[in-house]
Amino acid sequence: MASVVLHDVAKRYGDNPPVITGINLEIQEREFMVLVGPSGCGKSTLLRMVAGLEEITSGTIEIGGRVVNDVPPKDRDIAMVFQSYALYPHMNVRENLEFGLKIRGTPAAEIDRMVNDAAKILGLEGLLERRPKDLSGGQRQRVALGRAIVREPSVFLFDEPLSNLDAKLRVQMRAEIKKLQHRLQVTSIYVTHDQVEAMTMGNRIALLDKGKLQQVGAPLDVYETPQNVFVANFIGTPPMNFIRATVTEGGAGLGANGIKLPAPAAARGALASRVGKTVLVGVRPENVVAPGRPTRGATAALQLTVDLVETLGDEVVVHAHQGEDQIAFKMDPHHPPEFGGKVSALVEIDRLHLFDADTQQRIAV
Ligand SMILES: Nc1ncnc2c1ncn2[C@@H]1O[C@H](COP(=O)(O)OP(=O)(O)OP(=O)(O)O)[C@@H](O)[C@H]1O
Ligand SMILES: [Mg+2]
Repeated sequence: MASVVLHDVAKRYGDNPPVITGINLEIQEREFMVLVGPSGCGKSTLLRMVAGLEEITSGTIEIGGRVVNDVPPKDRDIAMVFQSYALYPHMNVRENLEFGLKIRGTPAAEIDRMVNDAAKILGLEGLLERRPKDLSGGQRQRVALGRAIVREPSVFLFDEPLSNLDAKLRVQMRAEIKKLQHRLQVTSIYVTHDQVEAMTMGNRIALLDKGKLQQVGAPLDVYETPQNVFVANFIGTPPMNFIRATVTEGGAGLGANGIKLPAPAAARGALASRVGKTVLVGVRPENVVAPGRPTRGATAALQLTVDLVETLGDEVVVHAHQGEDQIAFKMDPHHPPEFGGKVSALVEIDRLHLFDADTQQRIAV
């Protein structure tokens, strides 16, 4: 197993503005690191640079303590799984699994053992004689994983390996990959644009936007303490609500064009120097509590007008407004409010997130 260390890594194509800037990131041995961000933010580019499929413009990449900037992909001791699976269509499953090993000159008996082990781990034993075209999407993805496993690499690189699968299979394969990595203990970098995949799979997640790292941390830490508006908005479903508010009364209140809230007690000191300034108040849907449900800490009451009710099954998501401020939150599906009706709710004040409206950065309290 190996660590992967990126130091000041940047990428620019020709004279275009850089697509990756100043990435510093250390992935520890055996860690499952998820790189997540919106389409076009540079995830694949970054992963391909680790793989050696893309040159880096500046900076260094180390794998297992060795700088690999000039090491070709085949000598980096990595295995990559792509979204497209990239299986050889004219070979059956066994031949697909064997191919890389044969190229490397692995002895036949050892190839047999490795292929049979991988087939057993991935439940491919009954499919070894089939061609890729005669497999389902999930089975093809398993073969692609098998091909990575048999190489026994120090690092797995995954680029959106599940995005061609339907929603149910994606959830199933997500669990399988996670279990597999836990069992094999291979350092992994996993790219996705899906924040749920990131949260559920990563030991840590690294959020990327416009080629820059926004935050790196354990999923729960990122969820509970997002460092800027981008991260706060990206992680969580339904997403965090944002209210533009002006700091009032010596930092004690947050007034907006509809919703007025007391400031969290812990934030009053930090807000005292911002009286009259605009802040973005972040409210997670679960911290807007419908009547009759338990609350934690200080609360403030909202009187909302309902715009839309979405049924999820176990809950409904209610989209509502007070004045110009929009709020989404969850309620019991058996007692949903009427469209256009009124509903009251309590906001848990100590759970508010505060961001500077100009810099978009979290206001430390
Ligand atoms: N060969 C290239 N020449 C110029 N620009 C490129 C090239 N390859 C990628 N880019 C640009 O680099 C940026 C990052 O692309 P990249 O494929 O890494 O994004 P991504 O985060 O993987 O997106 P997605 O989620 O859609 O796969 C994009 O703006 C893309 O247009
Ligand atoms: Mg990509």
